[in-house]
Amino acid sequence: MNHFEAREGALWCEDVPLARLGEAVGTPLYVYSTATLTRHYRAFEDALAAYPELGAPTIAYAVKANANMSVLATLAKLGAGADTVSEGEIRRALAAGIPASRIVFSGVGKTDAELRYALDAGVAQINIEATAEFDRLSAVARAKGVTPTVCLRVNPAVGAGGHAKITTGAADNKFGVSIDEAERLYAGAAAAGLKAVGLACHIGSQIADLVPLAAAFRVMRDLVLRLRARGLEVARLDLGGGLGAPYFNTPDPPSPSDFAAMVASTIGDLDVHLAYEPGRVIAANAGVLLCRVIHVNTRPDGHRFVVLDAGMNDLVRPAMYDAFHDIRPVRPRPGAVMACDIVGPVCETGDTFARGRPMGPLEAGDLVVFMTAGAYGAVMSSEYNSRPMIPEVLVDGDRWAVVRPRPSYEAMMAREPMADWLT
Ligand code: LLP
Repeated sequence: MNHFEAREGALWCEDVPLARLGEAVGTPLYVYSTATLTRHYRAFEDALAAYPELGAPTIAYAVKANANMSVLATLAKLGAGADTVSEGEIRRALAAGIPASRIVFSGVGKTDAELRYALDAGVAQINIEATAEFDRLSAVARAKGVTPTVCLRVNPAVGAGGHAKITTGAADNKFGVSIDEAERLYAGAAAAGLKAVGLACHIGSQIADLVPLAAAFRVMRDLVLRLRARGLEVARLDLGGGLGAPYFNTPDPPSPSDFAAMVASTIGDLDVHLAYEPGRVIAANAGVLLCRVIHVNTRPDGHRFVVLDAGMNDLVRPAMYDAFHDIRPVRPRPGAVMACDIVGPVCETGDTFARGRPMGPLEAGDLVVFMTAGAYGAVMSSEYNSRPMIPEVLVDGDRWAVVRPRPSYEAMMAREPMADWLT
């Protein structure tokens, strides 16, 4: 459920009409709902709290899903931690008020400089993803004279997710160490100057089915038991993120409650501190991309292209993953539904959001929204075609704020100092 609902024939975000934001800020823009972010975070937390055997978890929101500072600060106030994959994300999380004690540093290619930064910042946990990284972290930590707290990110050879490009747990995916490596590295951690406290996994994103997640968690469970049987202490299990969000084109994915019940039944008896890294399930339905119809191009053969002022540079998911986003007029007009191609202004055919999508009448100037755009929307945008980054607005009840302004064209160009021999 989200807080983008129709009132008086038009869509609102909480107590603010989207049309007002379109007028005041200019389109295209992202709009985020505080009430929805809060609701989704709490739904996740409450679902887990229903199973006391799962203990008090760390809910490390995956910053990559939506890294806006005000979104992070909203979640920080709710007690969220952060799952981060770069120095930039760690810096954002800290600056937004998420304490280092709730920050997890994951990622398949952390540089030495980033590892040093994470150690200086005192993040709670570094997830090691490769033997080569284990060795580099060991060297970096020795040079600093510190003993980092680490988990080994295991590749459980169980992939899942809404698209091949966002599946991470398959054996041939680049993520994590194999089970054999995990056993060897865990046993060797102390000698390498690392404090191994547990294991992590993350098998993919937009997972619509609990079966692969349960299979992966059983693999993790077996590994925990094997390590313990060798006398090694395993105190932490980081189960990653991946739970899908409803995009309105398929049956709803499992709810946080279904997920929590599955976690309890697969690993509820392990007596470990659990961490989760949800991103999409918190942020996706808390945001929309609000844009305007530039014009409708109707060919003589009747083929209709609805050309929007938002392009693939603003929301890349359809072009990149063939992703479906529900597209709704802010104020629907009465009239017949017709199949349309919904496209952006960028100069390639990849800039197509939907083909043959049934839509009611749309005219130049109409506002439309892409639903479920709060996750992997603004964070993946670019200035391709020299279209400046679009603004982000956060709504809270009847108040709203521009939380990332649109840069001027001058500011966009000023980021590129001219080579001195060209001036
Ligand atoms: N933890 C790790 C280690 C991850 O790699 C990810 C996402 C998450 C947590 C959060 O996953 P979530 O709960 O959001 O599914 N850009 C793609 C999604 C990429 C996901 C990458 N990793 C998209 O737009 O669908």
